[in-house]
Amino acid sequence: MPDNIRPASMARITTPELAQQFIQEQIAELKKQLGNKKVLLALSGGVDSSVVAALLIKAVGQQLVCVHVNHGLLRKGEPEQVIEVFRNQMKANLIYVDAVDRFLSRLADVADPEQKRKIIGSEFIRVFEEEARKLDGIEFLAQGTIYPDIIESGPVKSHHNVGGLPEDLQFELVEPIKFLFKDEVRVVGRELGLPDNMVSRQPFPGPGLGVRCIGAITRDRLEAVRESDAILREEFAKNGLQGKVWQYFTIVPDIKSTGVRDNLRSFEWPVIIRAVNTRDAMTATVADIPFTLLQHITARITAEVKGVNRVLFDLTPKPTGTIEWE
Ligand code: XMP
Repeated sequence: MPDNIRPASMARITTPELAQQFIQEQIAELKKQLGNKKVLLALSGGVDSSVVAALLIKAVGQQLVCVHVNHGLLRKGEPEQVIEVFRNQMKANLIYVDAVDRFLSRLADVADPEQKRKIIGSEFIRVFEEEARKLDGIEFLAQGTIYPDIIESGPVKSHHNVGGLPEDLQFELVEPIKFLFKDEVRVVGRELGLPDNMVSRQPFPGPGLGVRCIGAITRDRLEAVRESDAILREEFAKNGLQGKVWQYFTIVPDIKSTGVRDNLRSFEWPVIIRAVNTRDAMTATVADIPFTLLQHITARITAEVKGVNRVLFDLTPKPTGTIEWE
């Protein structure tokens, strides 16, 4: 049987007991596969790479080397949470790379969406490659590949995956969750003791906030995306919408409009709120958000986010709009 087809005998992991069984089997399997060799993992802090990290920590402890690349396009608090959970709590061997300046200077003045994606993807590989070269004795590369990545072989995930490493950096692949569907990864993650907000996280694109800061990215507009996104997530969580709405985030386009603040004219950016429901991301409907909540979020964003004087709600389903704006 080809090793990329989920065995028919494999039960769907729906309960903590089944997750525990999977975890024990994988730990044994990983110990056998890795022996006393070292394994490298690009740890973004997303559900899949976090679950792989937690499994490997249980199986081989300090033989795992995690590299977390902060490209400056992560959501508020994410790099801090990766350090807290994996380095401080799970005692993982974690290399934190602050690549913010490097990414933002490579992206300066680049307005074309596909060009932005390419730069983010290739720069990520470059940074990871540089870190890998500094390490001795790595023989394995772990990846958070999940079953839909294999069966859909979708282009969507390509930004997360460290493909295209040069010849002198070819490692044997370790993919412990490659037969799991997303809901199963979440059940396993909970049993591994990962925080709920990490495990039940909504989808987040590989190029991160970079595709929500429309056009050429500037630091101040990127901060407006990050801060408004944090307010939106906080308010959705407080009002019971977290886990109910499939994906929600903010976008800051590269335009300004006239407004008024403290009796003076302002000329500032709008923030656009996007909140959608979908089964498979191919089509999507707009989530029905209570109007009073939208008004409250608008008041907070215009008061708390620097450079923003308006808030808009995107009413467009997919099609005709895509979920992201770029
Ligand atoms: P669209 O915008 O195409 O998005 O309707 C569908 C889903 O895919 C996510 N998305 C991406 N994920 N890299 C990713 O890893 C990307 O370049 C990318 N573009 C869109 C999007 O967030 C949504 O969940």
